[in-house]
Amino acid sequence: MTGPQIVLVGPMGVGKTTVGELLAERLGVTFRDTDADIVAAQGREISDIFVDEGEPYFRGLEKAAVAHALAAHDGVLALGGGAILDGTTRALLGAHPVVYLSMDVEEAVKRTGLNQARPLLAVNPRKQWRELMDARRQLYAEVARAVVATDGRTPDEVAQAVLDALELKEA
Ligand SMILES: Nc1ncnc2c1ncn2[C@@H]1O[C@H](COP(=O)(O)OP(=O)(O)OP(=O)(O)O)[C@@H](O)[C@H]1O
Ligand SMILES: [Mg+2]
Repeated sequence: MTGPQIVLVGPMGVGKTTVGELLAERLGVTFRDTDADIVAAQGREISDIFVDEGEPYFRGLEKAAVAHALAAHDGVLALGGGAILDGTTRALLGAHPVVYLSMDVEEAVKRTGLNQARPLLAVNPRKQWRELMDARRQLYAEVARAVVATDGRTPDEVAQAVLDALELKEA
């Protein structure tokens, strides 16, 4: 077991799940998403965990879920948008082929919409997205071996850019 072939990080709605599934298909491996792992284990949505228990509690679950998935999964792995806030997680990621999917604020508003269950963007999404990214941009860059800008690219084009950046060949 050498860990995932690709680990995708980046803000909410940037396309980690969409592109991750495409990449897994192209590489002939399975896709895994730590947010989905947490929802399955907890039997409730991320937004409900935030509301019921608070963000620190969720971050604790996330830290454990990421460590487990990095050790147990050898396909394509997507992390939740805030996973890189944890220093232990960032240290673990140093050993893995991490790609940061980025986008600008207008693209973010388009992709996340205004009516989805995004607990960190509930009010004034533009301002909140800017503040989130000011706090996180550096952390995404710090853990990433490559950065792929997704603005104006289709999911297929983003997937190809990820393969190119990591010098991976399709199955
Ligand atoms: N390159 C792209 N161009 C246009 N729309 C995209 C692109 N990638 C993803 N989308 C759309 O943006 C939305 C969010 O994508 P997705 O759920 O894959 O993001 P995510 O990073 O997994 O988000 P989350 O952090 O919430 O899990 C979806 O509606 C998806 O279809
Ligand atoms: Mg996702």
